[in-house]
Amino acid sequence: MTPGIAQQTMLPDPSFNQAWDAIKIADQVRKRLVNQALLGLSIRPKVAFEVAPLHGLIVLAGPPGTGKTTLARGLASQVAAALPGQRVVFIQVDPHALASASLGKSQQAATKLFDQTIPEAAQGGCGVVLLDEVETLAADRQRMSLEANPVDVHRATDAVLAGVDLLTRKHRNVLLIATTNYPQAVDPAFMSRADLIEMIPPPNAEARAEIIRDTLMGLAKSWPGVGGLVSHVNAFAAASDGLDGRRLRKAVVGAAALELETAKDPGKMNAQQVLASLQQAKRNAKEAGREAA
Ligand SMILES: Nc1ncnc2c1ncn2[C@@H]1O[C@H](COP(=O)(O)OP(=O)(O)O)[C@@H](O)[C@H]1O
Ligand SMILES: [Mg+2]
Repeated sequence: MTPGIAQQTMLPDPSFNQAWDAIKIADQVRKRLVNQALLGLSIRPKVAFEVAPLHGLIVLAGPPGTGKTTLARGLASQVAAALPGQRVVFIQVDPHALASASLGKSQQAATKLFDQTIPEAAQGGCGVVLLDEVETLAADRQRMSLEANPVDVHRATDAVLAGVDLLTRKHRNVLLIATTNYPQAVDPAFMSRADLIEMIPPPNAEARAEIIRDTLMGLAKSWPGVGGLVSHVNAFAAASDGLDGRRLRKAVVGAAALELETAKDPGKMNAQQVLASLQQAKRNAKEAGREAA
């Protein structure tokens, strides 16, 4: 695998379709994402940038655990589904590999990625590129200037911006999807290039109910006894206000870990355990929030 690339795969792919379905989020968000992605790919090859200044960049921003990475992968599958017969390649950039390259090398690595690796992979079709946790890749140069190793970070961000601009001008068959847990830490010049910045919120009550139901039904496939708990989903959803999707799924499954008996046989899990586990997760999340602040 090319350095700096975490994954490269042809679409469609069933696991990518599953990713799209796994994230419970408002239909209008899904629609905006799909439409913006397809608009970029249909307009950019045909209309001059000066007329329709689309960069082909979508940013998903929001707290950790809200499904951004999963949604981005799912979005790639939706692009492939909308372009049947086209060659669609998915590329996930590994920002940490690039950022941790030795002094002076991150810039070189980023340049090679955008000038060579991505265009080559996308040739003859289109490329959907995931820049996950882009705050690492395009760190805010203003903020970084006070910290260690500032020159290298500066150069790496410059190289990423130059790379995005090159794709914008020369490789109009590439769609970039970036995610970030910390939009304030991303260089403003990168954010300003986005055609759409979608804020991904923690799940609301309706989404939480869906996530809980989905998690319980997933467990029920192996332990049918868990299925009965679905009748309590509204109470569970009410008890889990403030949890992100990742913590929520973990807390539902984690209910079985409260007793040895249910840890060995999750089918015996009961509603009290689920409620207790959700409350525990909320206390932990609050605690973590206080520490981070
Ligand atoms: N809105 C949601 N609906 C369903 N599951 C979710 C949701 N948000 C997060 N999850 C779950 O949490 C896990 C982590 O999501 P991920 O995409 O890594 O989040 P992020 O990139 O925002 O940190 C996913 O596997 C998913 O199952
Ligand atoms: Mg993520």
